[in-house]
Amino acid sequence: MSLLIFLTGIVFIFLYVLPGTHSWGKEGHYITCKIAEGLLSREASEAVKSLLPEYANGDLASVCSWPDEVSHRAGWRWSSPLHYVDTPDFRCNYDYCRDCHDFARSRNRCVTGAIYNYSAQLSTYKNSKFTDQYNLTEALLFLSHFVGDIHQPLHCGFLGDEGGNTIILHWYRRKSNLHHVWDTLIIETALKKYNMDLSMMIEDIRTSILEDWPSDVPAWESCGVNQTVCPNWYAAESISVACKFVYKNASPGSTLGDDYFFTRMPHVRKRLAQGGVRLAATLNRIFLGGYSLLYHLTDDIFPECSSNTICDRENQSAC
Ligand SMILES: *[C@@H]1O[C@H](CO)[C@@H](O)[C@H](O)[C@H]1NC(C)=O
Ligand SMILES: *[C@@H]1O[C@H](CO)[C@@H](O)[C@H](O)[C@H]1NC(C)=O
Ligand SMILES: *[C@@H]1O[C@H](CO)[C@@H](O)[C@H](O)[C@H]1NC(C)=O
Ligand SMILES: *[C@@H]1O[C@H](CO)[C@@H](O)[C@H](O)[C@H]1NC(C)=O
Ligand SMILES: [Zn+2]
Repeated sequence: MSLLIFLTGIVFIFLYVLPGTHSWGKEGHYITCKIAEGLLSREASEAVKSLLPEYANGDLASVCSWPDEVSHRAGWRWSSPLHYVDTPDFRCNYDYCRDCHDFARSRNRCVTGAIYNYSAQLSTYKNSKFTDQYNLTEALLFLSHFVGDIHQPLHCGFLGDEGGNTIILHWYRRKSNLHHVWDTLIIETALKKYNMDLSMMIEDIRTSILEDWPSDVPAWESCGVNQTVCPNWYAAESISVACKFVYKNASPGSTLGDDYFFTRMPHVRKRLAQGGVRLAATLNRIFLGGYSLLYHLTDDIFPECSSNTICDRENQSAC
């Protein structure tokens, strides 16, 4: 018995200590996807339901963390650079051609590239020519997850600190890092005010969408003319928020408490809301079929890059 408790404890500690380096935590993804679900058109809602795995029971939000769950597993490690895009230290801006690549400097392998990739795949939904080529269930889960991730400011944070992962500090009395604070801990602290009832927090954000931000929502939803997705814009917003509010007063070794929580929580709520609104708008455009990829799904689903500049963690003088 005591051994069992001991082992359970080990497993618990292990799960607990594993750094949540990959995205909004489970709650954050659940919130964005739940908000999106409520804003889907009939066509999009039907398409989503038809693509969801059976165990989701028709609920997109319940499987929005799937890409995090698999990203460390054998066979899926290729997907782990797709959760974020790092930007050069203290520049506070984002550039697709400069920033979107993985450690091996392979182009398009970042969260913005992945959003282009999976929305293009999903837009083949009604085109039977592609049915063998892509797993649209995976495409839906990846897209829904990555639209959430890109709204977490530190998923577009600085290269040098790995999006805040190497900024070790305290969240109240708990040792953590800045990335994890933004993925999970701010939301967790906020949840205490809702008696840990996630649905109440979601309802509250929904109310804000209707009452506090109604005049902003059309701009959140829209992309350029004929554009289905516009992840570059979201990434640029994220690094801007990171510079103005996330990194500020959060140096290594500092202790973040009420002052930081109460001033940053509004930004977290807004990013979650924007993620949800934009995921719905994107899925609504994809399944409306207005945008059909007439060209074949090859490299031209990604923005074209003429410059050779690629930002490198070891040598940022190049960017
Ligand atoms: C695009 O999607 C395919 C299928 O999941 C994957 O193999 C590829 O790595 C993805 N590329 C990017 C940049 O997302
Ligand atoms: C599509 O992907 C899901 C999730 O990885 C998997 O369970 C399913 O079997 C795949 N479908 C096909 C037809 O390969
Ligand atoms: C948008 O798409 C329509 C239809 O394909 C086309 O006629 C129009 O020129 C496009 N507009 C822009 C700005 O690309
Ligand atoms: C860093 O990049 C600059 C500009 O591309 C180059 O001149 C320099 O040799 C590089 N340094 C290292 C250590 O790679
Ligand atoms: Zn993630």
